[in-house]
Amino acid sequence: MILSDYLAQADALAQACRALLDGLDPATRLDVAKGQLNALKDERLAELQGALRALPAEDRRGAGGAFNSLKTALQDALDAVGARQAATSGTASVDGTMPARRSWRGSLHPVTLVIDEICEIFRELGFTIALGPEAETEWYNFGALNFPADHPAMELHDTLYLGDDTLLRTHTSPVQVRTLQRFAPPVRVLAPGQVYRRDFFDATHAPAFMQLEGLAIDEGVSFVDLKATLAEFARRFYGASRRVRFGPSYFPFVEPGAQMDVEVDLGDGKGLRWVEILGCGMVHPNVIEAAGLDSEKYTGWAFGMGPARIAMSRYGVNDIRTLYDSDVRFLEQFAR
Ligand code: PHE
Repeated sequence: MILSDYLAQADALAQACRALLDGLDPATRLDVAKGQLNALKDERLAELQGALRALPAEDRRGAGGAFNSLKTALQDALDAVGARQAATSGTASVDGTMPARRSWRGSLHPVTLVIDEICEIFRELGFTIALGPEAETEWYNFGALNFPADHPAMELHDTLYLGDDTLLRTHTSPVQVRTLQRFAPPVRVLAPGQVYRRDFFDATHAPAFMQLEGLAIDEGVSFVDLKATLAEFARRFYGASRRVRFGPSYFPFVEPGAQMDVEVDLGDGKGLRWVEILGCGMVHPNVIEAAGLDSEKYTGWAFGMGPARIAMSRYGVNDIRTLYDSDVRFLEQFAR
């Protein structure tokens, strides 16, 4: 090889390197450009290095200078591409035409779904939503609700106390009194909310759970309204063919007190059976008076239910703890 051939080859390689750099635009895959530069370095530059030895001694100095500047130029080009790659941190290789990965965007919790559905049914029946505090006073949680002073539920084993007179409400019934203090009848409200009890966490109990309270107060409201409204709710929620029945029950803040059972199929192969879904009754005159209303003029009814229990019976869940686990594989099944 003679010097002029060598310089021509070096020049051709420098041009190839420059062309590659000039061709870098936003659409170029930088990893591909880097690969091409590395190939020039590994093959053609190495070839020129080897050719140095084939040159006559007097030409080696000039050829060596050309070789060295070419080597520097190639390394500079590689560094430039590397810097671009770091600056765009991979976005240059995003393919906008690729189908998206299926992603879990979350969904409403089964208990929330049940609450929303119940609220919607009662909204159609003329009820609005009322909320109350989770930290309550003894008076709202018990006293105003006609609990006798020595009622066992008031003792520490059932109730989580925050202080002498403040506790975590054990039910949503205090919202009955708070609502009647704020709004004049006619009142028709639904009060969903979290309640707390000093219970062990097992398959059927949780120390914190949702309740849904209902209250209807006006002049001349009777047990007929209670029965008709709750039976209509059950028909809409469980289906028109489901039977409901009312039986006597006791709560200090209602008189008479009742429970409503619905015939449901729990999906365990045992067919239809009676399941208690709520407690209810005519609001006790003492509660109406405690809220500052005339119990001779106003009457009404109330109910309380546990949407978690209702979700369990509807979706065939047999351990309440799965509703608290936040296991996506469980929750995903209810996604709409
Ligand atoms: N507060 C009662 C409970 O927690 C339920 C209930 C509400 C019963 C309203 C009757 C009327 O068990």
